[in-house]
Amino acid sequence: MTAGAFLATAQRRVPWLAAPAIHDEVIGGLTASPKTLPPKLFYDRAGARLFEAICELPEYYLTRTELGILREHSTEIAGRLGGRVALIEYGSGAGVKVRLLLDALRDPAAYVPVDISAEQLAAVAAERAREYPALPVAPVCADYTTRFGLPAIPADARRVAFFPGSTIGNLHPTEATAFLRRIRATVGSSGALVLGVDRRKDVSVVEAAYNDAAGVTAAFNLNVLTRLNRELGATFDPSAFRHRAFFNEAASRIEMHLESTIEQCVRVGGIGVRFARGETIHTECSYKYDRAFLDDVVNAAGFRVADLWTDERDWFWVAYLVPG
Ligand code: AVJ
Repeated sequence: MTAGAFLATAQRRVPWLAAPAIHDEVIGGLTASPKTLPPKLFYDRAGARLFEAICELPEYYLTRTELGILREHSTEIAGRLGGRVALIEYGSGAGVKVRLLLDALRDPAAYVPVDISAEQLAAVAAERAREYPALPVAPVCADYTTRFGLPAIPADARRVAFFPGSTIGNLHPTEATAFLRRIRATVGSSGALVLGVDRRKDVSVVEAAYNDAAGVTAAFNLNVLTRLNRELGATFDPSAFRHRAFFNEAASRIEMHLESTIEQCVRVGGIGVRFARGETIHTECSYKYDRAFLDDVVNAAGFRVADLWTDERDWFWVAYLVPG
């Protein structure tokens, strides 16, 4: 095996060897204009913990609202999915939401959690296998935004993808369509997708969710700089940047940025990156959907919205998508 092939294999198995992969994306993003960093960089160990703290914040309605919808409608959702479902979860994270579906499903055929974090994935897979002794659990450690192989799934099973959390919101509309199209190919013509989507709503509600009073979202955003210091030997001083989050009406998205509070030059992976005072790194988009926007993205991917469940405030959707 060549060194390159060995490293590629090792990186797939051992995410902490993945430095070269983030190096190129980081340098690409920080030498672009405007400067950007991909939101997946948030989720190192500290970032994953901070995200869990965000989900508990009073202002961050997304997780709580989606869980409420899943709790309220799990029987009906499970009814749409049918029996002998192979449930493929994109980004299994801490695995709380999927239990609501698994509990409601009749005779599920398999549970396939897909996650980039090997550690969390192993823990989640073991936990589900223990809770559902009759259920084959086949974890896949992969970046689900790229192509990945599926484990053996019983041939009689209906493949249903589960992509909760409004993580779809991190993708630009064209990327979201391309991503859904890949899911459509994975689940096949008899498959389906259960998708969590954050709805467009009053700006003050959305902006508060990304500017919490306790400053957890700020810490989550700034943590990416600490990560670059650790993994790429970068020289960011996080105290020379501040968290900014606002709703971009025209694009229907929350934007998160890290704003340089001074003029400065930072070393990152062998190069120098200059910042003007007030210049930002755009670290995240979180798109908020209305029905027309959802239909556009979904239909272009070869799916159609067959059912929508929402909460009493009309803040979030759980959508049932089928090929069509
Ligand atoms: C995990 C992408 C759904 O966009 O709300 C939370 C991430 N960013 N606070 C979101 C996030 C800032 C979250 N998603």
